[in-house]
Amino acid sequence: MRNTFFIAFTIAMCSVLLFLQVNCTQQVEQKPLTQEELIARGSYIVNSSGCGDCHTPKIMSPNGPVEDTTRFLSGFPAEDKLPPLDLKTVAPGNWYVTEKNLAAWVGPWGISYASNITPDNETGIGTLSEEMFIKTIREGKLMGVGRPLLPPMPWPMFARKTDEDLKAIYAYLMSIKPVKNKVPDPVPPPKLAEYFSKK
Ligand code: HEC
Repeated sequence: MRNTFFIAFTIAMCSVLLFLQVNCTQQVEQKPLTQEELIARGSYIVNSSGCGDCHTPKIMSPNGPVEDTTRFLSGFPAEDKLPPLDLKTVAPGNWYVTEKNLAAWVGPWGISYASNITPDNETGIGTLSEEMFIKTIREGKLMGVGRPLLPPMPWPMFARKTDEDLKAIYAYLMSIKPVKNKVPDPVPPPKLAEYFSKK
């Protein structure tokens, strides 16, 4: 008799605990992040996912190139020139080449330049809506609808992020300092020889 009571009591307590836990988890999942929380999460993701490796110009330090935080995420600097290059170096099967900012890359796809992803309206992504930003990363298209994004932008990996994470990244990028910097257009493979012969 005592045993039956004990078992019944234990089952009842477990049910209450289970109910409470399910309820609590649901509440945590349902609560949308405030704008401030969204920006903080975006900052955490961007600053731990290497976006600045390509998108922020570098200064040389005794330990190698470090990010120039005054030009955070502003892309390949418009005023910089690429050094001369023997195109045999980048022939298929040879090297992919980059420069001192790690922001311009040469390979069989031509020359690609890391974009200005600060919220500057003219030269950055200031006019890009949240929806189009998500499309850019998910579908790998410039400004969400343009030409396919060139290497080495790792969009196929970032495309796996959740909607909430992409929204957080967008909210954070829109909150950073806009930097005016018009990144050059990419150079397609047939124009490479002409581009480097002018050097
Ligand atoms: C390995 C280098 C590299 C890394 C790392 C990288 N990017 Fe890029 N990104 C590029 C390059 C290069 C382009 C330009 C591609 C082109 O012109 O087609 C680009 C383009 C973009 C664009 C498109 C801009 C536009 O005008 O449509 C966005 C948005 C972007 N990157 C966001 C990010 C974010 C956010 C991260 C970090 C989570 C990141 N990138 C990490 C190299 C990189």
